[in-house]
Amino acid sequence: MKIEKMLYAGTFDPVTSGHLDVIRRASALTDELVVGVLKNSGKHCLFTTEERLDMLRAVTEGIDGVTVEEFGGLLADYVMANGVGAVVRGLRATTDFEYELQMAQMNARLTCGAAETVFLMTDPKYSFVSSSLIKEVFSLGGNIEGLVPDKVYEYMTLHRKETE
Ligand code: COA
Repeated sequence: MKIEKMLYAGTFDPVTSGHLDVIRRASALTDELVVGVLKNSGKHCLFTTEERLDMLRAVTEGIDGVTVEEFGGLLADYVMANGVGAVVRGLRATTDFEYELQMAQMNARLTCGAAETVFLMTDPKYSFVSSSLIKEVFSLGGNIEGLVPDKVYEYMTLHRKETE
C-alpha cells in the first residue's frame, strides 16, 4: 500500500547528494513527496530560504511527484494541516538513532498518531556527509564534487565568487 503524501523536512543548507538519494527513494514510496525547507531554522544558514528552495527545485526537477515548499513552526502542525501520512527521515549511522527516536516519538504524540515516521538507510557512499561538513570543506578549498549534486556545486561556486 502506498502512502498518499509524505514529507521530507530539513534545513538543506545546502541539499547534498545524500539528501537527493533519500528524496529519489522516498518518492517511489508515495504519490506525493513534499520536500519541506525549514525557514526559521535555529541554525545559522549560509543560504537564504529562497536560495535553498531554488537549489532543491533545480535538483528535483523531473523526479515524479516531488514538490518543494517552505515551512515554519512545528513539523507536526504542517503534517496535520496538509494531510501528510508519513514523515521521511534518513538514517546515516547509529549516532543518528537516539535523536531520530526522540523526534519520531514526539511527532507521533503531537500528531496523535496521525502520521508515521519512515526511516530510509542512507546510501553508505554518503553516510559521513552533512551540510555543515560540506560547507566547511568547500570554504577551505577541499574537493566536494560528487557529495553535492552538480547543480548545487555550480551554485556554491557562484555564491562564493559573488560573496568574495
Ligand atoms: N545525507 C546527507 N546529509 C544528511 C542526511 C543525508 N541522508 N540526513 C541528514 N543529513 C544532515 C543534514 O544536512 C544536517 O546537517 P547540518 O546539521 O550540518 O545542517 C544534519 O544531517 C542533521 O539533519 P536533520 O536532523 O535532518 O536536521 P535539519 O536541520 O536538516 O532538519 C528538522 C531538522 C527540520 C526536521 C527539525 O528540526 C524539525 O522538524 N523542525 C521543525 C520544528 C519542530 O517541529 N520541532 C520539534 C521536532 S519533534
